[in-house]
Amino acid sequence: MDKLVIEGGCRLKGEVTVSGSKNSALPILAATLLTEHTCIIKDVPNLRDTNTMFKILRSLGKNVEFDKGVVTITHARCTECVADYKLVSTMRASFCVLGPLVGKYKKAKVSLPGGCVIGVRPVDLHLKGLKALNIDITIESGYVVAKARILKGAHIYLGGEYGSSVLATDNVMMAAVLSQGKTVIESAACEPEVADLAEFLIKMGAKIKGHGTPTIEIEGVRHLHGAEHKVIPDRIEAGTLVIAGLITQGDIVIKNVLRRHLGALIDKLEESGASFGREDTLIRVHCKRRLKPINVTTLPYPGFATDMQAQMVSLMCVTKGISVITEKIYPDRFMHVAELNRMGAHIQREGPHAIVEGAAHLSGAPVMASDLRASASLVLAGLVAKGITSVSRIYHLERGYENLESKLQKLGAKIWREKE
Ligand code: EPZ
Repeated sequence: MDKLVIEGGCRLKGEVTVSGSKNSALPILAATLLTEHTCIIKDVPNLRDTNTMFKILRSLGKNVEFDKGVVTITHARCTECVADYKLVSTMRASFCVLGPLVGKYKKAKVSLPGGCVIGVRPVDLHLKGLKALNIDITIESGYVVAKARILKGAHIYLGGEYGSSVLATDNVMMAAVLSQGKTVIESAACEPEVADLAEFLIKMGAKIKGHGTPTIEIEGVRHLHGAEHKVIPDRIEAGTLVIAGLITQGDIVIKNVLRRHLGALIDKLEESGASFGREDTLIRVHCKRRLKPINVTTLPYPGFATDMQAQMVSLMCVTKGISVITEKIYPDRFMHVAELNRMGAHIQREGPHAIVEGAAHLSGAPVMASDLRASASLVLAGLVAKGITSVSRIYHLERGYENLESKLQKLGAKIWREKE
C-alpha cells in the first residue's frame, strides 16, 4: 500500500487540466446496459471507481475496452442481470445498474450497497421510484430483486429528508426511458452529472425533458440504440485545484472547467476575498490578499457541494478568524477533522457543524485518509503545512482523482509516493 508524502510551503504555479467527471462517467457507463449496440464514452477518467464499473459491466456480459480515456462497449446481451455483492460493496455507485437492468431486461438482482464512512446512505428513494414504475421489488439475502412484466410510466415525487438524490434520480430515469407511457420525476436532483446522463440517454434515442431542473419528464420508447458521448469535466476535481491554488497563495490556471458548475464554490470564495476571471472554461487562481473567514452550508446542487466541504475546511484552517461549516447532506461527514487537528488545526465538531478557528500555520504530520474527499483535504493541508506530511491509505484518493500527485508536481508541489 502506498502513501503520499508532501513537503509543504511551495506556492503552486502554472497550468493544469481537469479530467472527465467520475460522477458523470459512472452512471453513463451503467446506462450502456440499456442497449445491445456499441457505445463510445470519451474523457472517462482512469480511476479505481471507473475500473470497478468496467468489472461490473463485464460481469454482466458486456465487452469493455478502455484506452486513453475512451471506453468502447460493444454488442453484448446480459444473461444473468446479477450485480454481485463482492463488486457492489466496493463502490456504492454500482447500485445504479439496477434501473437500466430492470428497464431493459425486466429483471435484475443487485446487491444492496454496504455501509459508508461518510454517513448513513439508504436507498429507499431508489426503491420507491422503481416500484412506482410497476416494478416488483423484494429484498432477499442482501440483494434487491426486481421483476416487472411491463414497466409503466408514473408521476413520482423523489424528494427525501436531505432533499433530492443524485443516483436515485439516475436509476429511476434509466428505468423510465424504456417504460410504457410518460414518467414525471418531481424533486429530481439537478446536478450537472444528472443532466449529462440525460444528454447521453437522449443520444441513445430516449425522450427526456427538464433534466437539470427539479422536474424531469420522460416519454418511454421501445428501443435505444448505441451512441457516442464525451463526459463533462469533473467539477469537484476543479474545485479541489482552485483551493490548492488559494491555500498555497499560488498563481495557477485550471483548464477544461465549466465555470457555471462551480457557481456556489466561487461565490463563497469571492465572499472570502478571492477573485477569479470571468472565463467560462478556465479559472485563474491568483490571490495575493489574505482571505476572510466565512460560513458555508452544504446543499443539493446548485447549492454548495458536500463533496467540496472537506477541502473548504482545510482552507479555513489557515484563514484567520472563525468559520462555521455546516454539513446538511451527510451530517457525519467529518472524518477529516481529527486528522487536521493532528496537524495543528483548531476545529470543534458540534453535530453537523465544524467550527474552525483559523491557525497561523499547520505543521506536517502523519495522517490517515478515511474517504475520497477527506483524503483530498489532507493533501491540501499538507501543501501549506510546515515540514513533512504523510497521508496514508491513499487508495481512497485514487477512487476519484486521476493522477492528482503528478498534476500537483507539475504545478511545483513537493509531493511524492512511498510504500507504507
Ligand atoms: C452522489 O451520491 C455522489 N456520488 C456523491 O459523491 C455525492 O456526495 C452525493 O451524490 C451528493 O451530492 C456519485 O455521483 C457517484 P444522494 P448519491 O443520493 O447519489 C439521502 C464523491 O465524493 N438519500 O444524492 O449516493 C442520502 O443519505 C461521492 O464523489 C436517502 O435518504 O447521494 C444523502 O443524505 C461521495 N435515500 C442525500 O439523500 C435514498 O434513497 C443525498 O444523497 C438516497 C439518498
